Amino acid sequence: MEKQNDQSRMDRIVSLAKRRGFIFQSSEIYGGLNGFWDYGPLGVALKRNLKESWWHDMVAGHDELSTLPGAPTPYEMTGLDCTIIMHPQVWKVSGHFDLFHDWMIDCRESKRRYRYDHLHGRWASHRGKKVFVVTDQSGEEAAPHTVQKAQKFFGLRAKQVDEIEWEGTLVPLAASVADGSVTLSGALGPDAGEAGTLTEPREFNLMFETRIGALAGNDDDRAFLRPETAQGIFMNFKNVLDTSRVSVPFGIAQIGKSFRNEITPRNFTFRSREFEQMEIEFFCKPADSAAWYRFWRDRRWNWYLSLGLTAGKLQLREHHADELSHYSVGTADIEYAFPFLAEGEFGELEGIAHRGDFDLRSHMEGKLVRQNGQLVVETGPDGKPRHRGSGKDLSYFDDATRERYVPHVIEPSAGADRAVLAFLCDAYHEDEVPDEDGKPRSRTVLKLHPRLAPLKAAILPLVKKDGMPEVAIDLYRRLKAHMPCMYDEKGSVGRRYARQDEAGTPWCLTIDGQTLNDQTVTLRDRDTLVQTRVPIDACVDMLRERLH
Ligand code: GAP
Repeated sequence: MEKQNDQSRMDRIVSLAKRRGFIFQSSEIYGGLNGFWDYGPLGVALKRNLKESWWHDMVAGHDELSTLPGAPTPYEMTGLDCTIIMHPQVWKVSGHFDLFHDWMIDCRESKRRYRYDHLHGRWASHRGKKVFVVTDQSGEEAAPHTVQKAQKFFGLRAKQVDEIEWEGTLVPLAASVADGSVTLSGALGPDAGEAGTLTEPREFNLMFETRIGALAGNDDDRAFLRPETAQGIFMNFKNVLDTSRVSVPFGIAQIGKSFRNEITPRNFTFRSREFEQMEIEFFCKPADSAAWYRFWRDRRWNWYLSLGLTAGKLQLREHHADELSHYSVGTADIEYAFPFLAEGEFGELEGIAHRGDFDLRSHMEGKLVRQNGQLVVETGPDGKPRHRGSGKDLSYFDDATRERYVPHVIEPSAGADRAVLAFLCDAYHEDEVPDEDGKPRSRTVLKLHPRLAPLKAAILPLVKKDGMPEVAIDLYRRLKAHMPCMYDEKGSVGRRYARQDEAGTPWCLTIDGQTLNDQTVTLRDRDTLVQTRVPIDACVDMLRERLH
C-alpha cells in the first residue's frame, strides 16, 4: 500500500510527465513562468480525451428521453462556447470585481476564506493553555462566538466557561498581527478546531486585467479575463431559451480556459493561473432543486469512478450547513488524495453547488448581498444599485403549468487540469515484470483507463525482417482509421513494451514468426501482462469494442 504523502513519488510523476511529453513548464527556455503549464504530445491527447469523455457523457451522449437513476425526470443538455473577455459589468454583478482588492485569509482546516479586515479576536487562557480566538462575526454576536470557540478549544462544559480567562477586548486581527502581539500560528480560526490553521493574508488579485482597443487608456476600456466559464452561460441563458427548443429542466455545458491571478500557484498544475474548466449550469424548477442537486452530486461522483479513479482516494465532502450561502441547500466537493498532500488531506477536483436563483436574479436586478437572511440589491451611498444588473427579464414561463419563475441553478464545476493531474497520479505505478529472459525488471506504468489513454495500441513487428514490418504496417493503417495508435520497430521488444507502459498504452499487438503462418498476433494487456493470440483480422473490431 503506497503512502499518500510521498513527495518523492510526486517528483517521479512530475519527472515522467516531462520526460514523456505530458506536461512542460510554459516558456521553459526563458526560465519558465510560475503557474503556467503546457501540454506536450501525450499530454494534449490525454487532456482532450478527458474533456471529450466529459462532453460525451454529460452532453452529446445524454439520452434526454430516459430518466437517469436518481433524476426526478428526464432532462435536456446543450452546450456553449463563450468569449474569455466579457462586458466588465458581468464581473461587477457576479461579485468577482469586489473581491479583487481584498486581503483574504484562508483556513487550511475548514477550507473557508475570510476577509482579513473582517476578523477580530482576543486572548483566552485556561490552566496554562493560551490561544488567540478569532471570530468573523460582527456586532453583538462576536464576543459570544469567541466564548463558544474557546469552550470547545479547551474542552470545557458549559458551566465551566467562567474558568476561561480573557485578556482585553476584541481587537482587529490584522492590527494585532501587524504590531506583533499576535502570530497566525497562535490564532484559532473562526471555524477551526485547532490553532495555527490560518494562512498568511493575501491580496485577492483574482482577475487578470486587460484593455480593449488600440487607444485604450481610460477606465472604460478596462476588461478582465474570465475567472470562471460559468458567467458566459448566464449571459446566454435567454439566447439559448429563445433559439433552441429546450425547456426546464435543462443544462448548458461549457469547456474553456479560465484565468486567476493566484498568489501562490503550486503543486504542479493543481493551482495554476491559466487553467481549463468544465462547467454545467443546470436550470430547474425551485421546488425540484434539492432533488436535482443530489442527482448531480451523485452523477459527477460516479463519473470519476467510471473512468477508473480509485474510490478509496476520492472523497465527497458535503459542506456543513454553516458553510453554505443562505440561498443554497447544498454544496459538495469531490476531492482526491493527491500525493503532494499530507496523509488524510484531499484536494478539490470539482464543486457541485446549489446556487438558487442568485445568478439570474443578480444579472436582472443588480449585484445582490445578504441582509437579514434575504438577498437584496446592494446599494451605494446614493441609494442606487452599487452594480446595476441588465434589467432584462431572465425569468422562465412554464407552458405546462402556466407559471413564471426564475429557475434555480445547480452548478457542477470541474477543473480539466486538476482531473488530468488526478488521473495521472492515480494511474502511476511502479512494479516488476519479467523481461525477455524471464528476469524481473522494474517498470513504470500508467494504468490509464483506455478512454483516457493517449494511444490505444502499439503495433510492433518482433524483428525488422522476414516480412513482419509489412504485416505490422498494414495492421497499423487499418487500426489508425479508428483510434490513435503507433507503429514501433526500434529496439528490443521488451524496451518497446516498456515505452508503451510509460505512455499508458493499454494494448500492444506483436507480429512474430507465427503470424506469417497462421495470421494471428500477440495481444499484450498493459495491466495484467496476459498475452493472447488473436486473429489479425479480428484486432480492429476487438479493440473498438473494448473502447466502448
Ligand atoms: N463557477 C464555479 C467555480 O469556478 P471554483 O471552485 O472556483 O468554482 C471550479 O472552481 C473548479 O475549477 C475547481 O474545483 C478546480 O477543479 C478548478 N480550479 C479552480 N481554480 C483553479 C486553479 N487555480 N488551477 C487549476 N484549477 C482550478
